[in-house]
Amino acid sequence: MENNKRPDEMQRITNKALANAFIDEQIALIRKQVGDKKVLLALSGGVDSSVVAALLIKAIGKQLVCVHVNHGLMRKGESEQVIEVFGKELNANLVYVDATDRFLDLLAGVADPERKRKIIGAEFIKVFDEEANKLEGISFLAQGTIYPDILESVKQAEGKKAVKSHHNVGGLPQDMQFELVEPLKLLFKDEVRVVGETLGLPHAMVYRQPFPGPGLGVRCLGAITRDRLHALREADAILRDEFDKCGLAEKVWQYFIAIPDLKSVGVKDESRYEGWPAIIRAINTKDAMTATIEEVPYPVLHKITARITAEVEGINRVLLDLTPKPTGTIEWE
Ligand code: XMP
Repeated sequence: MENNKRPDEMQRITNKALANAFIDEQIALIRKQVGDKKVLLALSGGVDSSVVAALLIKAIGKQLVCVHVNHGLMRKGESEQVIEVFGKELNANLVYVDATDRFLDLLAGVADPERKRKIIGAEFIKVFDEEANKLEGISFLAQGTIYPDILESVKQAEGKKAVKSHHNVGGLPQDMQFELVEPLKLLFKDEVRVVGETLGLPHAMVYRQPFPGPGLGVRCLGAITRDRLHALREADAILRDEFDKCGLAEKVWQYFIAIPDLKSVGVKDESRYEGWPAIIRAINTKDAMTATIEEVPYPVLHKITARITAEVEGINRVLLDLTPKPTGTIEWE
């Protein structure tokens, strides 16, 4: 427990010099802990697991085995970025598993959000477990635990009804008999980002907005279908691109598209065109417990609407969600 408490005198890592000192210290500690043994890491491509991967690659190189499970619910280009950065640039020992069909087959016809979360979480563990069992001689499991995770896990939930299960797809089997390597466990998120950039990870990866473990699965509302999921991924990529171009990406905490399982009548090329609405959600928050709405300028909204309706098959309307949290949650499911 003592090892899980941030010492009062620990300096906040705010610049590259401090980050380098932290990195050097951790490299020595990791080498001492791991020796010549092998370490396994579930690499989602999120900020924390990416920074852990980069740190461990620097400390122990190919003794780290990264497993990236693509559950088919990633945003456009994310798995490709993991392969590019870790597989190619950092020359990591990377196992890439495309489990898209497994996940989408299991989710077919399932409309209830909590059941969807449970299926995604359980299947993730199963796939990861299968991959881990194929590997020989693994002694350690690395995790991207950060200090807020430790602080939150100490608190007891109060007697209110749980809002949603927040299943983090990074959650791993309880019965794995590995010793843990958690080099970021005393750091806050802003410090993790400074360490990540100092380790040379791309800015977009280190400053990635939060993305739920179940991914686009909780934004393709109701029962997921491949065509609607595809439309969602494309529309979301356009939203991200336009937010990048106008500077909102740096400013807004979380922004994404959700698509309900509902079609409305529209018109395209002078013919009736039934399609889904793409719902834009752009929120700001400190701790994700409450959230306010970003006031996205109308010209940006018009541009996004024009692009999505022109470029994405199956979408004929674009809507803007103006609901703060409460009463809306940040995600729609
Ligand atoms: P809500 O929708 O509860 O979201 O207001 C608060 C924050 O948590 C994220 N979120 C999740 N993250 N697994 C996750 O890892 C989940 O099941 C999940 N559900 C919501 C959400 O994106 C927001 O940042």
